[in-house]
Amino acid sequence: MEASANKLKQDRISARMLTWRDRIRDGRENNYYFYNQIIDELHGGTRVMIDGREMQMFASYSYLGLIGHPKINAAAKAAIEKYGSGTHGVRMLAGTLRIHAELEETIARFKNTEKAVTFSSGYITNVTAVTTMVTREDVVLSDKLNHASIVDGCMLSGAGFLRFRHNDMADLEICLQRVNPAATILVVVDAVFSMDGDIVNLPKLVELCRKYGAWLMVDEAHSIGVLGKTGHGIEEHFGLENVIDLKMGTLSKTIPSAGGYLAGSEDLIQMFRHSARPFVFSAAITPAQAAAAKASFEVIEEEPERVAKLRENARHFIRGFKDLGFNTLQTETAIVPVICGNDMSAYRMAGLCQEEGVFVLPIVSPAVPEDLARLRATVTAAHSRAEIDKAMSVFERAGRKLGII
Ligand SMILES: Cc1ncc(COP(=O)(O)O)c(C=O)c1O
Repeated sequence: MEASANKLKQDRISARMLTWRDRIRDGRENNYYFYNQIIDELHGGTRVMIDGREMQMFASYSYLGLIGHPKINAAAKAAIEKYGSGTHGVRMLAGTLRIHAELEETIARFKNTEKAVTFSSGYITNVTAVTTMVTREDVVLSDKLNHASIVDGCMLSGAGFLRFRHNDMADLEICLQRVNPAATILVVVDAVFSMDGDIVNLPKLVELCRKYGAWLMVDEAHSIGVLGKTGHGIEEHFGLENVIDLKMGTLSKTIPSAGGYLAGSEDLIQMFRHSARPFVFSAAITPAQAAAAKASFEVIEEEPERVAKLRENARHFIRGFKDLGFNTLQTETAIVPVICGNDMSAYRMAGLCQEEGVFVLPIVSPAVPEDLARLRATVTAAHSRAEIDKAMSVFERAGRKLGII
């Protein structure tokens, strides 16, 4: 009763609701709504059952194919047996369990930092990091293609907020020169950009941060398990050590759990443990999540062949698209933007691929520029060569039909 009464109100909330209702309805009626589909089953790491149909998964963040790994599943089950399903509240009060401390020690070791601390999502970890580090008197500089959670953190912090052109170090330097020399500066970037799959120019970034006395934070959501010979991330990729002040990562992509972490010096992490609002006022991640995450970091080190396989698959996947004539921007990783043109081209491309059993999703404006709507195809270590090649022939047929290639 109340919900329908609300709908009748003549205000801006109702107008927004109606806009979305009409947009979704139009998408459904015209076969271009692909979001919020329900996956019923996962088969062998690369196949999913959706609406009674088996499809090849090419939209997963599980880069090393660790979802369902026996050691990780066993760790999560054992944690439930030992601690139960929940915690006793926020981390600072009664919510910290031994498994949280063990996970944070594991992350600090993996990321080669003094300490680490975890939060309930990757999104909230970025908001936390920026809002705890900078305030109104300070300045934050952010790459134009940084993840939305970084942008939200920058805006919420109240700090002066400048965006530099994507991965453009000359533009970053211009921004750094514009800032009052007395201000404290934080520079934030993604290690691997989540929509384009390209890698930040870390060596030049470090040089600039040192030159201008700025702090550097790097979001490794898409680089853990992906970059570096042994999957330890962006520093390993460039052969650098301890050049990043704050390393952020999520526990929801390569690591098949949920949550996020910050890793850095003991003093920096101690500050987060006492003044970061989502640590002080929000519940701890569950024992099963923490145990699964801890076991996942161990598996990455115990099974380095997965990292090598991912790299080989990514190379093959990108080459396949390029050889067909698709524009894949500057990607070098498992995230491959397959540029389609306008939003409707991306929708139609996704529709044709899904009809042929390839589960891949369109990314449209405003998430990406209007003329750069795309499929965001991802490959994992779990895909076989044959699966990739079969999907490639589906992409080819769809691309030719729509005149994209
Ligand atoms: C670069 C980046 N940072 C942070 C996040 C947020 O992580 P989570 O999904 O674990 O909240 C994402 C998620 O897509 C991401 O791509």
